[in-house]
Amino acid sequence: KKYEPIDFVLFGTAGDLARRKLLPSLYQLDKANLLHEGSKVIGVARREMSKDEYVETIRTNFESFLGEAVCEETWLRFIARVDYVKIDMTEPEDYSKLCAHVDKSRVMVCYFATPPSIFGALCKGMDHAGVIDESVRVVLEKPIGNDLASSIVINDQVAEFFDEKQIYRIDHYLGKETVLNLIALRFANSIFATNWDHNCIDHVQVSVAESVGIEGRWGYFDDAGQMRDMVQNHLLQILTLIAMEPPATLDADSIRDEKLKVLKALRPINSSNINDKTVRGQYGTGFVAGKEVPGYLDEPDANQKSATETFVAIKAEIDNWRWAGVPFYLRTGKRLPAKVSEIVIYFKRQPHNLFSDSFSTLPPNKLVIRLQPDEGVEVTVMNKVPGIASMGSMDLQKSQLDLSFSEEFADSRIADAYEKLLLEVMQGNQALFVRRDEVEQAWRWADSIIDAWKHSNEAPETYQSGTWGPVSSIGLLAKEGRSWYESK
Ligand code: BG6
Repeated sequence: KKYEPIDFVLFGTAGDLARRKLLPSLYQLDKANLLHEGSKVIGVARREMSKDEYVETIRTNFESFLGEAVCEETWLRFIARVDYVKIDMTEPEDYSKLCAHVDKSRVMVCYFATPPSIFGALCKGMDHAGVIDESVRVVLEKPIGNDLASSIVINDQVAEFFDEKQIYRIDHYLGKETVLNLIALRFANSIFATNWDHNCIDHVQVSVAESVGIEGRWGYFDDAGQMRDMVQNHLLQILTLIAMEPPATLDADSIRDEKLKVLKALRPINSSNINDKTVRGQYGTGFVAGKEVPGYLDEPDANQKSATETFVAIKAEIDNWRWAGVPFYLRTGKRLPAKVSEIVIYFKRQPHNLFSDSFSTLPPNKLVIRLQPDEGVEVTVMNKVPGIASMGSMDLQKSQLDLSFSEEFADSRIADAYEKLLLEVMQGNQALFVRRDEVEQAWRWADSIIDAWKHSNEAPETYQSGTWGPVSSIGLLAKEGRSWYESK
């Protein structure tokens, strides 16, 4: 099944995502012999371009974004699959040009790497060309809407032509090796499986820090903000995998049913508790990796008055039996000191300290899952320092059981999330894609926060670029006697 021949139609092939991620990922799948010899890659964009010119642009992109030398053998095989079609994507008549390039004997996978405002037009155009049947799969890139209402409109437009079973809403965090490893850690290890609830866990932290700013995307980002760009999708998806009940199987709907239940159990945050549960910030000037960077309001194209947040910290709570009283602190921001994403599970402290000579209070055990960079899993434990001191003055030390993926799996390459997810689409497996009801539930929760911010009439707090966000973010945990995990 893995090697089924596919017509992979890439709408928006000239865009950033296709150039940086999708084409390099398809090449990597080819290199790993995971594409059927009959599979094709058909780029679609508005520009007039010959196939040779298209191939040339791909080569230039690979030089910048592949992150390794191009393997000439794979390259030749890859470009033999490639084709290009110029289509004015808002013009239904124009789609008939597709017909000459796709073949009913192959499964068609259509990747919508375009602004979602034209997803409806893409579907209509394909319908007009007569290329839609029940074997076609469509991949929708985020953001699916700007809020619940607009996401319903987009989902309805696509649903007019495709059944939910044909729709793959991508959240690339679900393709990250370490995010997937959460499922293995939780359900393949009894030491975690049996300790994964309010009896044993004190609180959870999820931090997704980026050192980049908005990278010339003012137009998109200023409408979105960090809440829509990162929390509504990536952080909530991570949260669901940490918090969900064991699914009956690894089937798409078993997993997605459980994730949905978590989203439904999230306690609403609104005007009544917004100041207590959230912090938002906007970066000012500062230094990141020794380089001076402009503040958000001085970015190219900025309107200098924006109240859009580039940093968010939230105390999320899940109102169900397993997680009663266990806060999930979420934090994400641009222009922080480093690109680092981590999940930290803080276990409860020991009820009594036998070792008060070494530690007035025993530190809690922590499970740290490093999503990126330097993927790994670490458990902090208390150890006796070797020595012959008497029992009464036993010396303890905090140590790490540390699993680094690059050391443990030195022979395996860690695939980019998009490679993994593209392969899943080609295999027709929806488990790592977000179902419509999940997206809508996530919007419900996020919309209420965004709405409360809007009505608070308060501007986001400015933080210096290259720091860990506004001071109030420290306060969010400090008022409960906790602090953010400090990455190594
Ligand atoms: C994208 C956001 O979804 O994720 C970007 O739109 C963000 O703003 C990116 O930079 C982060 O992804 P990653 O894989 O680099 O952590």
